[in-house]
Amino acid sequence: MERTLAIIKPDAVGAGNVGNILSRLQKEGFRIVHMKWIHLNQAQAEGFYQVHRMRPFFSSLVKFMTEGPVVVLALEKENAIADLRKVMGATDPAKAEPGTLRRDYAASIERNAIHGSDSAQSADYEIAYFFSTIELSGRSG
Ligand code: CMP
Repeated sequence: MERTLAIIKPDAVGAGNVGNILSRLQKEGFRIVHMKWIHLNQAQAEGFYQVHRMRPFFSSLVKFMTEGPVVVLALEKENAIADLRKVMGATDPAKAEPGTLRRDYAASIERNAIHGSDSAQSADYEIAYFFSTIELSGRSG
């Protein structure tokens, strides 16, 4: 079993697509291990995306990620990291396969509905970024 971190982004939350996305993830076999609803502040969004801090889109990305609440999920499944990226589709929804979450719910390369960890190392870091020791040491682990 493997874990990954997903974020349903402010565009998808604002458009009322949380239920559709959760339902799709569960149909694909992901188990929700931890979940929270949070409106990130600037420092929290900058911290999460620190690997992108030198990119030209960084300040716009932070502004987008703080415009409204997000839903943060720790998901579990065999091959969770690769499988979530497959279900999400390409970063740019124009290039995402039909039937993927980004093709169905995203509007642009920035406002792309959902984030998923890109490696086991990122997944560990990102899960620990959002979920506390008390959450991660409860009975769901
Ligand atoms: P995500 O998978 O969360 O990782 C980084 C995010 O930066 C990405 O999704 C998009 O929201 C955003 N992003 C990536 N590339 C671009 C780009 N070329 N222009 C604007 N935003 C981008």
